[in-house]
Amino acid sequence: MPQTEIGSVEDIPLGQMKTFKVQDQTILVYHLKDGFYGTQNLCPHTFGPLKMGKIIDGSKIQCPLHRARFDIKTGEVIDWANFPPGIQVLNVVRKEKGLKTYKVSKKDGKLFVSI
Ligand code: FES
Repeated sequence: MPQTEIGSVEDIPLGQMKTFKVQDQTILVYHLKDGFYGTQNLCPHTFGPLKMGKIIDGSKIQCPLHRARFDIKTGEVIDWANFPPGIQVLNVVRKEKGLKTYKVSKKDGKLFVSI
């Protein structure tokens, strides 16, 4: 799997995230306590920008629109969209779906994503 250099480790302070355009995809890269991780940026529910969400419990991302939560490392759904009340009607057609994840590695202070 080819690796693409996306920047330096200083670009993303610990506990924060940043998007990078790689080929035709926007990848959200997170700096967690144990390293760097990448996921798709758009929420699979109704395409909310996860980069505007928040990292919770040190390893989950919460979508800013309807509060779906995903495991950053595996992409698994932790909680599906549950806000505002009544969103369950939309969930009938927008079924649970996890995030695509990307391997992010670092070497000599540079970050690389495998895509
Ligand atoms: S768009 Fe992310 S939870 Fe709805």
